[in-house]
Amino acid sequence: MPSIAMTVNGKAVRVDVDPSTPLLWVLRDHLQLTGTKYGCGIAQCGACTVNLDGDAVRACVTPVSRAANRHVTTIEGLSPDRSHPVQRAWLEEQVPQCGYCQSGQIMATSVLLSKIARPSDEQIHDALAGNLCRCGTYPRIRKAVHRAAELATEDGKPR
Ligand code: FES
Ligand code: FES
Repeated sequence: MPSIAMTVNGKAVRVDVDPSTPLLWVLRDHLQLTGTKYGCGIAQCGACTVNLDGDAVRACVTPVSRAANRHVTTIEGLSPDRSHPVQRAWLEEQVPQCGYCQSGQIMATSVLLSKIARPSDEQIHDALAGNLCRCGTYPRIRKAVHRAAELATEDGKPR
């Protein structure tokens, strides 16, 4: 079995898996990072969204080979103490209902804010359109994205 090296949440890791194994299963089953959720398995819901070298990707359809020698950030790696602006905004706005989709929503939002510091409603819609929420928390998500953008600016380190 080939060995695949990558950096996950700032830590160098090495996993012995078939290179075609979806990144989602490597994160959840091999690295016990279960904050990334399995929703549809076919790139339709966004529950499995993680950050791969600065882009939001669907871990359920991303072979682990694509992450070789690259940086992956999951919800667990956003901050050690929930201090990331997106996490703070999510708490302030009490966004989650059942919570299942939310780590994907948060990861997609953090990538969005790293690219566009103050996104418009339309830009938020475009960036998060692939992240479905069966509980319909979309209005709170939009509010929280704006709040996270404010908090990041106040922090002086938009990301
Ligand atoms: S589980 Fe990956 S997009 Fe739905
Ligand atoms: S909070 Fe329930 S699926 Fe989004």
